[in-house]
Amino acid sequence: MTVPGRFITFEGIDGAGKSSHIEATVAWLRERGHRVLVTREPGGTPLAETLRELVLHQPMDTLTEALLVFAARRDHLATCIEPALADGQTVVCDRFTDASFAYQGGGRGFAPEVLAQLERWVQQGRQPDLTLWFDLPAAVAAERRAAVRAPDRFESQDLAFFERVRAGYLARCQLHGQRFRPLDALGSRDAVWAQVRAALAGTGWW
Ligand code: TYD
Repeated sequence: MTVPGRFITFEGIDGAGKSSHIEATVAWLRERGHRVLVTREPGGTPLAETLRELVLHQPMDTLTEALLVFAARRDHLATCIEPALADGQTVVCDRFTDASFAYQGGGRGFAPEVLAQLERWVQQGRQPDLTLWFDLPAAVAAERRAAVRAPDRFESQDLAFFERVRAGYLARCQLHGQRFRPLDALGSRDAVWAQVRAALAGTGWW
């Protein structure tokens, strides 16, 4: 019998530096012999990647944006994440529903009870087993982002938007404390990686 895999998500405001730690985490898991599916949201399937392009670059209202990220999530879960978990793979996902509560809920001010309803419909009880939240002040994240590339619809928002997104993550962390691991993302890459490793090892799963 195949043991179901674990579902790990990475969260944080744009510029928090999660990408390199996703790569390092995947390497860490594979070194231990685990089969790993690496994916992202919005995205992860051809349909969801098409929706991602729209969400990141087309002007739209907040309800449309929320519906599209959850539509992308539905396709991603049904055709990619659930089959991989059933097959015993570890799924490492760059963002998931906590980002909807943080960005659409906190950032855009969209009603959390509507997001919670979409979450129930789309996820049918599925939640990540572990969520690593890279937390740092919005102003520091903005400085880090400025150096990198042209901003998308989210990255071009002002500091107040990202402060609300950060507060949205904090609220989710308080609500889902069992699976959330808040990490101090202010430090050096090595210092943050030490926290990631500790969080992974601390689960006792690997
Ligand atoms: P991100 O994951 O940071 O990718 P990249 O590193 O390529 O910029 O970008 C995805 C953006 O989508 C990010 O700004 C947050 C936003 N987002 C939402 O607004 N809601 C969601 O539910 C998800 C998953 C992402």
